[in-house]
Amino acid sequence: MKRVAILISGGGSNMVALARSMTGDHPARPVLVVANDPAAAGLAKAAAMGIPTAAVDHRAYKGDRAAFEAALLAPLEAAAPDILCLAGFMRILTPGFIARFAGRMLNIHPSLLPKYPGLHTHQRALDAHDAEAGCTVHEVTAELDAGPILGQARVPVLPGDTAETLSARVLIEEHRLYPAVLRRFASGNRTPLWLP
Ligand code: GRF
Repeated sequence: MKRVAILISGGGSNMVALARSMTGDHPARPVLVVANDPAAAGLAKAAAMGIPTAAVDHRAYKGDRAAFEAALLAPLEAAAPDILCLAGFMRILTPGFIARFAGRMLNIHPSLLPKYPGLHTHQRALDAHDAEAGCTVHEVTAELDAGPILGQARVPVLPGDTAETLSARVLIEEHRLYPAVLRRFASGNRTPLWLP
């Protein structure tokens, strides 16, 4: 049984979708949810699901990224995860941290990478008059939002869409894609998954 730690920063809707999926004959189980903000609403959701939680406030380490990551590693290593899932996690991790979990750290990004790495992905797709948008699950590497793609899901951009309406449509697909990719990844299958 693979042990999965999930890192969040906010509401944790992707964390909830992942946790809910890890039941029955699924080859993985959630063992920890960590937030960089003690007030992250996802922490209460994880606790309500019986998942151990931890919070490491990045503001307590302002400017000292290495110290923040050392504090983050403590609960993570105690949980001995096989796989890390970044799910709405909004801190950039150093190459040193990423190297510790090389090949077993996933992230979901709300664009069809390699288009629109970084922030404000939906507004950028609208500004470019893209006909479609979507989300990507990828392996985390030192280069931001650029690791090997493990899955993508697409949605149409509709007339009158705003960043809010588009992000809501993409979020639904995130909640489908991420659990499907994690299940494959946890069973040792890294071939990319393209959801219709
Ligand atoms: C969402 O905008 C999602 O697209 C991105 O992170 C944000 C928060 O997600 N992955 P969550 O509800 O905290 O999972």
